[in-house]
Amino acid sequence: MSADFPLSRTAHPAPEAERIQILSAPVFGRYFTDHMAFASWTPESGWHDRGIGPLKPFTFHPGTAVLHYAQEIFEGLKAYRHADDSVWLFRPEANARRFARSARRLALPELPAEDFLASVEGLIRADEPWVPGPHGEQSLYLRPFMFASDPFLGLRPARQVEYSVIATPTGSYYSSGITLWVSDQYTRAARGGTGAAKCGANYAAGLAAQTEAQERGCDQVLYLDSAGEGKLEESGTMNLCLVTSDGRLVTPALGTILEGVTRDSVLTLATDFGLVPEERAVTLDELRSRAEEGTVTEVFAVGTAVVVTPVVAFKGHGYEFVIGNGTPGKQTMALREHVLDIQHGRAEDTHGWMRRVI
Ligand code: COI
Repeated sequence: MSADFPLSRTAHPAPEAERIQILSAPVFGRYFTDHMAFASWTPESGWHDRGIGPLKPFTFHPGTAVLHYAQEIFEGLKAYRHADDSVWLFRPEANARRFARSARRLALPELPAEDFLASVEGLIRADEPWVPGPHGEQSLYLRPFMFASDPFLGLRPARQVEYSVIATPTGSYYSSGITLWVSDQYTRAARGGTGAAKCGANYAAGLAAQTEAQERGCDQVLYLDSAGEGKLEESGTMNLCLVTSDGRLVTPALGTILEGVTRDSVLTLATDFGLVPEERAVTLDELRSRAEEGTVTEVFAVGTAVVVTPVVAFKGHGYEFVIGNGTPGKQTMALREHVLDIQHGRAEDTHGWMRRVI
């Protein structure tokens, strides 16, 4: 059973001058819009108390389950303003499905897709002035999330759950080609674990690896599989794709990695770019030797926040290698432009991925 998210407007929106200032150079995750969407769940009442209201803090009992056992999941998707001032989402149904899969894995209640879409769309309508203009890579990033809110320290699936959506205007996440640190100390996920779920705990567990990468002068970490077979998994906030000289777009197969919406979109678009999509295991040895012999010609990372970001080099303990001549690849940049053009309404949406909100 789903319902609307009625809006109760804030009496204190950010002053227009402040909003315009923030939108002139949006920084991912630093500033938030005026409203938030919310809903609550209990086994007795199911989903209830849906609404959209002023952005405000949660108040927690110190014994609240999520603070102790990290029973939490989230999503990330963006709203784009087109040149005619309409506002669109990119494949939000895919995010709704993944949110439900993450909920099952974390023993949280599934939020019906209609509620997911109604909450995200209602928040965009409430905060429409916060959707950046139709230039470059700017958009409004939506962050739906759900957590165990019972004040109870016994370890059991939540019997009280809060769902919410907040929004932050954003520009580009990385400004140019990035270098990845191949961690041999940390792994991200094991078979049977939570690797495919978008849960906060996966990202918390990755922070030490991300810090190590930054200390080594890299932008992000690249994880290998936890069984020690040297297979590429994913990077801290994104999936990885390789372009080969024989026209393939190769990406690690699903299982313990996040089922990225951008990853799936790029696999679908590959054929339009004359590339054969291939999901399979790729080892670091294969990547390194093929990069050195020049048969892996480009590497890029994909994700909602990063869109399509060129990866120009890799470093690990005692080695480093570049991809191509160490600058962003042509196919990568063409794919990146094409994804951005579809999202911003500058290219035809032949796959029916865009959903109009305003
Ligand atoms: C996204 O791309 O939506 C993410 O979740 C990345 C975030 C962890 C920075």
